[in-house]
Amino acid sequence: MDKLIIEGGATLKGRVKVSGAKNAALPIIAATLLAPGKNIIGNVPRLRDISTMSKLLETMGVTVERDGDSLKINASSVSNPTAPYELVKTMRASVLVLGPLVACCKEAIVSLPGGCAIGARPIDLHLKGLEALGAEVKLEHGYVHAKAKRLKGAKFVFDIATVTGTENIMMAAVLAEGKTILENAAREPEVEDLAKALISMGARITGAGTDTIVIEGVSSLQPVNGYKVMPDRIEAATFLCAAAITNGDLLVSNAIPEHVEAVTGKLTETGSEISFEEGGIRVRGPETVRAADVRTMPFPGFPTDMQAQIMALLSVADGLSVISETIFENRFMHVSELVRLGADIVVEGRSAVVRGVKYLDGAPVMATDLRASASLVLAGLRARGLTEVSRIYHLDRGYESIEKKLETLGARITRTRE
Ligand code: EPZ
Repeated sequence: MDKLIIEGGATLKGRVKVSGAKNAALPIIAATLLAPGKNIIGNVPRLRDISTMSKLLETMGVTVERDGDSLKINASSVSNPTAPYELVKTMRASVLVLGPLVACCKEAIVSLPGGCAIGARPIDLHLKGLEALGAEVKLEHGYVHAKAKRLKGAKFVFDIATVTGTENIMMAAVLAEGKTILENAAREPEVEDLAKALISMGARITGAGTDTIVIEGVSSLQPVNGYKVMPDRIEAATFLCAAAITNGDLLVSNAIPEHVEAVTGKLTETGSEISFEEGGIRVRGPETVRAADVRTMPFPGFPTDMQAQIMALLSVADGLSVISETIFENRFMHVSELVRLGADIVVEGRSAVVRGVKYLDGAPVMATDLRASASLVLAGLRARGLTEVSRIYHLDRGYESIEKKLETLGARITRTRE
């Protein structure tokens, strides 16, 4: 297993371009199941989760090949509409094949994802949405068996604005008979990016990016023809935090301001200077980080996927911050590792109380989940001495060559094989 060795103290300067968004690419790859023929998707990041989703489609009889930044996917013959436990347990986003399989193959056999490090993460709303469209859904031996001759459009209100739940039902509805109205839908930019890709295939969708999405079913779709995935807003926000924690001066050249407004707002509150230059976002980090409270919320609120990273920044702030995690019930696994680096953080239920310290001190730490590992890298950039982050396969799920990008910005960071 690989690990990262970071010598803290460097200030990050320069410019960086983030890769395509993992959480937009994954549903768009799943959407290729809806259109027989040659799909080409552009700006697809080279990440473990993308390889896992590609492998999953290949087990169904789909051909997937990488061509530079693009993926070429031919889903003309889906011979096996099954997502096996062995793959689903490594990546929950595998559940995104559920909607497309029921829509295109009339049935889906998808393993229940099971919990993960950050919470139970059920998919009950995905299943209720499919039933609302007329699917017959049964749970047997840890698998979802969903069937429908042809889905029928319906109105469905999500109890919780679930991101992949919204994506799954939107994909199921594009080939349903008649109109579907999704209310209390997730508003994340990745939902909107998926809708744009589906519209490029001939789907009729309005309202994506708002909490009400209307889908008029069509009889068939054309393959994706070069649609480019949006830039990764969480990777962008992670780099903005890296500039803030190292008192650096960094331009993320392809960051989309409205995708990261809650994060840039919080960075401004903690003393960073934000400006919008050359079509991207520039951050000048503060000499002294100011404390601030954070509450994760669905988009456009502060993203839960940035909670661990902002905690690293606030752990060296001048004062006390309270971070409340309202989306997942167990997303503080990074706290004990940050404490090993000298942070002063106490978890109280769904909140973490962060008392800023003057210094962090490098130490061996262990990544527990994707965003927690990003938080440990940020803390290592700030800590005095050497920090070793192990189990960075978590990091590789969501960040393409992060150490190379950080190195070009002046970080002293190397990857070694354990
Ligand atoms: C997506 O997960 C992202 N993953 C997550 O990113 C992200 O943290 C999350 O949205 C929240 O923004 C992908 O897009 C692949 P949810 P998802 O369904 O869709 C509850 C990362 O770091 N819920 O919006 O699984 C659920 O338990 C990952 O890239 C139900 O109760 O999240 C949670 O408390 C981590 N029943 C809340 O809703 C359901 O049927 C939000 O979950 C579905 C969800």
